[in-house]
Amino acid sequence: MSRVHNFSAGPSILPKEVFEEASKAVIEFNGSGLSLLEMSHRSKDFVAVMEEARALVKEIYGLGDDYEVLFLQGGASLGFLISAYNMAGANGKSAYINTGTWAKSAIKEAKFLSDVNVIASSEEKNFGYIPKEYTVPADADYLHFTSNNTIFGTQFKAFPDANVPLVCDMSSDIFSKEIDATKFDLIYGGAQKNMGPAGATVYIVKKDVLGRSPLKMPTMMNLKIHVEKESMFNTPPVFSVYVSMLVLRWIKSLGLKEIGRRNDEKAATIYDEIDRNGMFKGTAATEDRSNMNACFLLADGLSEDLDASFLDMCKQANISGLKGHRSVGGFRASMYNALPLDSVQTLVEVMKAFETKFG
Ligand SMILES: Cc1ncc(COP(=O)(O)O)c(C=O)c1O
Repeated sequence: MSRVHNFSAGPSILPKEVFEEASKAVIEFNGSGLSLLEMSHRSKDFVAVMEEARALVKEIYGLGDDYEVLFLQGGASLGFLISAYNMAGANGKSAYINTGTWAKSAIKEAKFLSDVNVIASSEEKNFGYIPKEYTVPADADYLHFTSNNTIFGTQFKAFPDANVPLVCDMSSDIFSKEIDATKFDLIYGGAQKNMGPAGATVYIVKKDVLGRSPLKMPTMMNLKIHVEKESMFNTPPVFSVYVSMLVLRWIKSLGLKEIGRRNDEKAATIYDEIDRNGMFKGTAATEDRSNMNACFLLADGLSEDLDASFLDMCKQANISGLKGHRSVGGFRASMYNALPLDSVQTLVEVMKAFETKFG
């Protein structure tokens, strides 16, 4: 199999050694004579996987007994609603920062359950920056934000200072750098970028959030019930949880500090070239550029036909997943944890060759 440089925005690249280990479990897991895919989620072997995955999340983020971790289904899209249900408080009011498509989706769901105040938005500039000036109303039950905007390539470099409980959709930069996770009452995110394959959604919730919401809650929305059932209220996405556990082991072995250093290096490599190369321009404000998703366009004045020429050159170099999201256009290089630096260097070589050929 020839090596592909995988810049997909998600589901996305995972460590090679994880694929190897995971493929063995599909054939036979733990010498049990059974594939992981045909095994009860209540079996001793799988319960151990779930427990290790939950424990690793806490260990990697340095969280103590005041936090719980769950692996549920429904993606971050259900997380928009689950977070709004569980974080609802006595005031019936919430605050949201609107930094892109996913933040808007979170706002839409929250409107079913609370009086939503959008306290800041970058929509007027097609979400090309992270708003910095805003006031969080003291009577908001919580503040919700999206730490990394996968589609628009912006990222919060510092988390909002809120005097109310803080909630974050961390789908596209979870475990990408060291953070102070104790700032949050709730973090959630789909596994399918930095943490594992599609299918599992991680929830990291402060214990005192559980049972606090005054809302009448459908059972599957209720994080307290999921915690009481040790993330096994219903059948969990076993394979996704297993592969996530393998990725979490890999993250632990490297450490978040080293992962963050690698992600900084990859991001500097691509952004330096976007800034140097006259054929391209970045779409995000420099100080808010995402380390995970670098979005860029052809420079002003260049024929749009050249988009296809550049993508064709990328294809020749075995680069995949570079086409930008339709709401931004151009190109998006997603550089999640498992993407090696040499893939970014290969992309930079193609950008240089493109400049030589068409510049
Ligand atoms: C930041 C962010 N939030 C939410 C979502 C939606 O996630 P899901 O497809 O898991 O529901 C995505 C998907 O890419 C995302 O990038």
